[in-house]
Amino acid sequence: MLEVQALHSGYGRIPILNGVSLTLGQSEILGVLGHNGAGKTTLMRAIAGFLPATQGRIAMEGRDLTAAAPFQRANAGLGYVPQGRQIFPALSVRENLTVAAARSGRSVDEILALFPRVARLLDRPGGALSGGEQQLLALARCLCTGPSVMLLDEPTEGIQPSIIDEIIETLQTINREQGVSILLVEQNLECLAALSKRILLLDRGTIVESIEGQAVHDEARLASLMMKA
Ligand SMILES: Nc1ncnc2c1ncn2[C@@H]1O[C@H](COP(=O)(O)OP(=O)(O)OP(=O)(O)O)[C@@H](O)[C@H]1O
Ligand SMILES: [Mg+2]
Repeated sequence: MLEVQALHSGYGRIPILNGVSLTLGQSEILGVLGHNGAGKTTLMRAIAGFLPATQGRIAMEGRDLTAAAPFQRANAGLGYVPQGRQIFPALSVRENLTVAAARSGRSVDEILALFPRVARLLDRPGGALSGGEQQLLALARCLCTGPSVMLLDEPTEGIQPSIIDEIIETLQTINREQGVSILLVEQNLECLAALSKRILLLDRGTIVESIEGQAVHDEARLASLMMKA
């Protein structure tokens, strides 16, 4: 689905990503773990097209997107939910969704069926929602664009445990029923372990470890890998 080869990127002349390679398979959930400042958000922004690649290649379904603008990547099926969510605070929940669905032609009602909590808040301004509600809205809005791949940057950051469980279940449903592949950046080990089939450990802009099989669900092992990184 998504292929990233030897990607280098950064801010101005400051290099942050030093040759990141990863492959996200069809309907796969691939986790990315790393300390604060490891380059996780930089990686997501570079894949989404908000930061230029200085070297390397980004492709989706074999189509080269390395030089494509963010909207072209979105049109190619790449959805991005940034860290901190960034919904439109002054627009109502319904407007946040209809704006996103306008180009894809996806049915907002069909997507709302996956987000009952959001469906109860349609007339509220996005900015009046709690953090957890805004995160669910951001996920629903992304789904309204009709993505085949979703890039999710810390969807559980700063969110209370009961809504975290709801987010995990919703992501499982999106992945299973809609076949959406997910690249999931998370520092919440429980969430990462519950969702990922594979986890990459990012340290100082490079992938230093790939965790597969049963080890993915071993939160203690993930925590110790983080300690060593
Ligand atoms: N706009 C910017 N200009 C210059 N340097 C930046 C900018 N944004 C981030 N950086 C630097 O890039 C490095 C990686 O930051 P990044 O946000 O990708 O980390 P992260 O892994 O997402 O961290 P966190 O877990 O805190 O979200 C950090 O050293 C950070 O200070
Ligand atoms: Mg980040």
